[in-house]
Amino acid sequence: MTTETTRKSDLHSPSTRGLVVTIDGPAGAGKSTVARHLAARFGLLNLETGAMYRAFALKAQRVATAFDNEDALALLSGSTIITLMQQPDGNRVLLDGEDVTALLRTPEITDAASRVSVHPRVRAWMVARQQELGAHGGVVMEGRDIGTVVFPHADVKIFLDASPEVRGQRRFEQTGNTPAARPSDEVAKELRARDERDRNRAVSPLRPAADAIILDSTYLTLEEVLLHAEEIVRTALTQRS
Ligand code: DC
Repeated sequence: MTTETTRKSDLHSPSTRGLVVTIDGPAGAGKSTVARHLAARFGLLNLETGAMYRAFALKAQRVATAFDNEDALALLSGSTIITLMQQPDGNRVLLDGEDVTALLRTPEITDAASRVSVHPRVRAWMVARQQELGAHGGVVMEGRDIGTVVFPHADVKIFLDASPEVRGQRRFEQTGNTPAARPSDEVAKELRARDERDRNRAVSPLRPAADAIILDSTYLTLEEVLLHAEEIVRTALTQRS
């Protein structure tokens, strides 16, 4: 059993110093939940890179830059500052100093983030920023290309997957009772379209790193997934010490 005391001692354990944990996987696999859990459990900084792409998509939308215009997007990135701030329930995102967290989960921005993220120069800018953010380690970073491109030498790489049906259903349930609720077939369709784009783009497509541990949550409860992920990190820590 985990007590608050052991959590605190984990938090200051020298063995997690410099540790880099990456979590990649498709939309709806549960990456954010697992990342938040590992961050709390091991005292790591939790960085959600998808939120950075979402914030950039919002900026492009606001200044009416077309999502398929790489030159204009690259130019725009030069005048954009995205900051992630860790909170117990996820990241707060500042776009040029403005807290835009509440604006990033709409279907429009979800779709736009997937579109702006296909461009090599947008990705190069994001990757450099993400490498800076994680340079001192002590982080769990989640996204699509973290184990393959951003931190190819990470200590722990988890690829979190689940069947498209299960991911669609989970997404649907997440929004089921909120004002953002939409029909489940619409959610599933959107998820499939985004998956297609994320997996098939020319640069840094979503795929597991050769040395990633694949964690398939299709038939697991949330608790089982979290325990499994914890175990993966703990094993890596033991091997480091
Ligand atoms: O994880 P998310 O759903 O918030 O990500 C939004 C989009 O951003 C996703 O469709 C693809 C893109 N993304 C990416 O290309 N690379 C990352 N490391 C994270 C997200």
